[in-house]
Formats: sequence, structure tokens, C-alpha cells
Amino acid sequence: MSLFERKNRIVVTCAGGVSPYLKEELVGLGFPILNEETAGIETEGTIDDAMKLNLHIRTGQRVLFLIHGFTAQSPEDLYRTLSGIPWEGLISEESYLCVTSFVDTPTIRDNRFANLKCKDAIVDRFYQKLGRRPDSGPERKGVVVHLHWVGKRGLLFFDTSGEPLSRRGYRKIPLKAPMQETLAAAVVLAAGWKGEGNFINPMCGSGTLAIEAALMGLGRAPGLLRSHFGFMYLKGYNESLWKALRKEARATAKKQLRGRIVATDISLEAIRAARQNAMTAGVEQSLDFKVCDYSETPIPQGGGAIVLNPPYGERLGERKELEEMYQGIGDFFKKRCQGYRGYIFTGNFGLSKKVGLRTKRRILFYNGEIECRLLEYELYEGSRKDQFSISSHQSTIINE
Ligand SMILES: C[S@@+](CC[C@H](N)C(=O)[O-])C[C@H]1O[C@@H](n2cnc3c(N)ncnc32)[C@H](O)[C@@H]1O
Repeated sequence: MSLFERKNRIVVTCAGGVSPYLKEELVGLGFPILNEETAGIETEGTIDDAMKLNLHIRTGQRVLFLIHGFTAQSPEDLYRTLSGIPWEGLISEESYLCVTSFVDTPTIRDNRFANLKCKDAIVDRFYQKLGRRPDSGPERKGVVVHLHWVGKRGLLFFDTSGEPLSRRGYRKIPLKAPMQETLAAAVVLAAGWKGEGNFINPMCGSGTLAIEAALMGLGRAPGLLRSHFGFMYLKGYNESLWKALRKEARATAKKQLRGRIVATDISLEAIRAARQNAMTAGVEQSLDFKVCDYSETPIPQGGGAIVLNPPYGERLGERKELEEMYQGIGDFFKKRCQGYRGYIFTGNFGLSKKVGLRTKRRILFYNGEIECRLLEYELYEGSRKDQFSISSHQSTIINE
């Protein structure tokens, strides 16, 4: 049985803190959970299963399909191992090859050297066997081979996603400080929004959270937005199955949402970009846009989730102004958002204290290198008298 026919180990990587949501997605798609790490989940399946994951997964970054596990103590060992793999049966000499890696082993100081060794081993083998070799370079436009080498233990994968899955393709106008699409999807899931009730996103910027909420609420597979994945360049690529999977995904998506998605921002430029991005994502009809201060965001009856990703660093605003803004968000929650669950995604814990409300949960996420929290506030309607007192020591801290 060839590598592409048999069940193999698949690792889906994700941003730090996202793995509980990725796990939920994998289980929902019927995949077994073999191992869970902070930045990825291990499952198993065939290369066709890897295609399915690339189509449906919202919170994962890359779908890695295991080629070979080995032990290596030196770059020479690595070269020898890779030279023994029958690459000519796995990829075409016409393809474009890119090698990426995560390396933490004493004999290699710069992982680019490991990439070069891998690439050399593969193309030298092609020369020997066929007299021709694939082109190679840093772009992820064809076959992507990923090396994970820690200590003596090496794992070699096909990165079946090619470009990371966060690049959905709809964000043509990213603006300043945009959130990664896959992280935004995890935040929407953490906010418990699955299409029931309303999703309100003041300070929407380029619209990532609102667009991800719409895709989720409509049950639209995010992979439908992309025409290019790494698996398409492997010899095991089953194009007719890919077309069938896409057709099935399109057929099961809903046409309309039950609740409303409202996206507002004080910047006209941001709303223009968010609208354009929503159009590219094909969800513009499901979103209501408005240029306004966050405090004037229309809040429909019926409850749901209100999620804000305010500026939190010196990059976008000054400290004093930001403190006032976070205090203002607390007032906005209290006065206008009763009956909703309120969320603030921030990387600045000093500022989050200014909100002045009791947090129900503080959920850890990493936005690139920045440690962030999604703060949850339950905004009760009516009678709970003590609901808005400051009491951070009573917060339930999860995932920390
Ligand atoms: C960190 S960005 C949001 C990024 C967004 N999550 C994305 O993925 O593009 C913060 C946004 O808050 C907006 N903003 C700043 N002050 C505001 C205010 N007083 N009212 C409404 N929006 C505001 C900015 O225009 C900016 O688009």
C-alpha cells in the first residue's frame, strides 16, 4: 500500500491556546485525538482525510501528513535518511519544492541549513533516478516538505496546506493590527457563538471576527475560499474527490443566519475594508456595517455575543487614551449590552483592569508572540445587584 493510501499520522498545528477549539473541531469531523499539545493536535487519516481537514478546519494553521519518522544525530544522517525515501513516487520532478522546518538539535544552529540538506537530498535523488529534478525555493506554491527535528528524533511531513490556513484569501485589505483568521475563528468559538443569537463586533477593523462568525454561523467551510493547497501537488492528489468534497460542503452550507452580525468601527477606511473583505468571503449579506464609535453600535434585541478587539499597545494609541477607552467599554457593556455575553480580546492586562467589571473567564491565547486574554463578562439583565462590582480575585481562570 502506498503512503497516500494508508492511514498515517496527521498533525494539525495551531496558535498557542487554540488547541481546545481545534480539538472540538476534529472530534466534530469524526477524527480521533491521539495527542494534544498547546500548539497542535495529533490525529490520523489518509491523504484524502488531510484534504477534508484543509477544507473544514477553522482554527488550525497547517495540516501535516507524516512521511517518515527517523533518528538522526547530524546533518549527514539527515541527508542519508532523506536520500533513501522514494520521492519520485510521491512528487513529480515537474513540481516546485519548498522545505520548512522546526529544528532543535545540537548539530544544527541555523534551521536554514537543515532545510538545505533536506532539499539537496531530495533533488539529488531525483537526479540519480530520473536525470531531472524539481525546482525549489522558499515560496509555498507547490510541494511543501516540513522537517520537525528535536534532539535525535526527526519527523518528516508533507505540509498539505502549503500556505497556512489562516490565509483564507478573503482579507485583501488587512489594515493595522489585524487578527489572524484562524485565531479569530477560535475566539468566536470561545465566545460560544455557533450561529444562535446575535454576534456584535464593535471596533471590527478589517472585519476578521465578524467574517469568521458569519462563515461559522452559515456552516461555510473556510477552505472553499481557497483554490490552492499543498496537497494538490502530491502524486496522491485525488482531484475528483476534492471536487466532490467541495460540492458537498457547498450544498450543506446555510443560505441565511438566524441572528444578526453587526460590525462597526470609528474608521471609515476600516469599514470599507471590512465590507470588501466580507464580499470576497461571500458573507456580506449576513453583516450589518456602520461607521461609529463603539459605544454607539446598534445592539439588537435577543442577546448573543459582543466581542471587541480594542487597540492594546503603543502601536495604535496612547496609554491614557487607552485607559479611558477600556473604562468606556465597561460602561458600554453595563449600559447597553445587558442580556449579552461580553468579550474583550486584549494583550494588555493593565488596561483590562480598567474595564471595572467582574470577569467570568479569562482565556489564554497567543497572538503571534503576544500573550493575550479573551475576557468574558456576563452582562445580566435586570436584578443582579452585585454583577458589576470589581472583583478580579473572584475570576474563574481557565486554561492558565
Ligand atoms: C486592533 S484593531 C481591530 C482589528 C480587528 N480585530 C481585525 O482583525 O482587523 C482596533 C480597531 O478599533 C478601532 N477603534 C479605535 N477606537 C475606536 C472607537 N472609539 N470606536 C470604534 N472603533 C475604534 C480602530 O479603528 C481599529 O480598527
